[in-house]
Amino acid sequence: MNKNEQKKIPEITIDPQKLKVMAALRDIKHVIVVASGKGGVGKTTVAVNIATSLATRGLKVGILDADITGPNVPKMVGLENERPAFDEKEKKILPLESTYGVKVISMEFLLQSKTDAVIWRGPLKMGAITQFLSDVKWGHLDYLIIDLPPGTSDEPLSIAQLIPKADGVVIVSTPQEVALLDVKKSINFVRKVGLKVLGLIENMSGLICPHCHKEINIFGKDGGKKAAEEFNIPFLGAIPIDPAIVPLSDEGKPFVGQTGESQTIFEKIVDNLIAEIKKNE
Ligand SMILES: Nc1ncnc2c1ncn2[C@@H]1O[C@H](COP(=O)(O)OP(=O)(O)O)[C@@H](O)[C@H]1O
Ligand SMILES: [Mg+2]
Repeated sequence: MNKNEQKKIPEITIDPQKLKVMAALRDIKHVIVVASGKGGVGKTTVAVNIATSLATRGLKVGILDADITGPNVPKMVGLENERPAFDEKEKKILPLESTYGVKVISMEFLLQSKTDAVIWRGPLKMGAITQFLSDVKWGHLDYLIIDLPPGTSDEPLSIAQLIPKADGVVIVSTPQEVALLDVKKSINFVRKVGLKVLGLIENMSGLICPHCHKEINIFGKDGGKKAAEEFNIPFLGAIPIDPAIVPLSDEGKPFVGQTGESQTIFEKIVDNLIAEIKKNE
């Protein structure tokens, strides 16, 4: 070994953005990321209802809408067209609160027009997400739920990479998407980010008949369960297609706040999710 080689010390790179985010998240106990292989599978519905369910259990909860291209968390919790206040003294954005006391921050609050999002470029979007994590006065939270943009491309990847110390990722898919390849893509995505898969939720699995309230399995059953077994990840549960969900989310009301089969099913899914998180503590 020559002298030059002896002097070499491993390079330590400290990402200043990440440090800032880590400092800001010190008061947040758990971070859950919600991701999906594609859009329209109910990722935001799941994120909003996890947050609301946890809040109704007396926990302090926040939701960060990181889906910058389609920020629709505010609409689903009845905060559309609202604007957050700014704490001049602390120079921090104050999150808005849903009826259930869930603190919400979304790009939607900052957009002038609904079409602005499409012209935002990558680095600008990353800057905005970093700010949402570090310059928002979240206060003490038991859980912060993050609604990621859909897909497994670079954008959701870099956003997820900005979030240190997350407990893990909940993957949402529909029965059609539960095709092994899609689930595998999502799992690889989570691994690339260096996070843990907390579990798979199959959404729009079967239909609850509005007349007899029984479940009709349109796309077969147990696809999600089998995929989870195949890849050795926890299966958190299956949410049926419930015709009541669309009008409720359009009105800004999370369905867990209502009564019905889907609500009971969803509460069990949240129980399973909490159990997974506790396992890792
Ligand atoms: N289990 C379900 N039953 C009926 N409608 C649902 C269900 N899950 C989601 N939806 C509806 O499907 C649409 C897409 O859901 P959303 O959560 O916005 O998907 P994503 O965030 O993945 O794009 C919304 O109108 C939502 O109300
Ligand atoms: Mg969404």
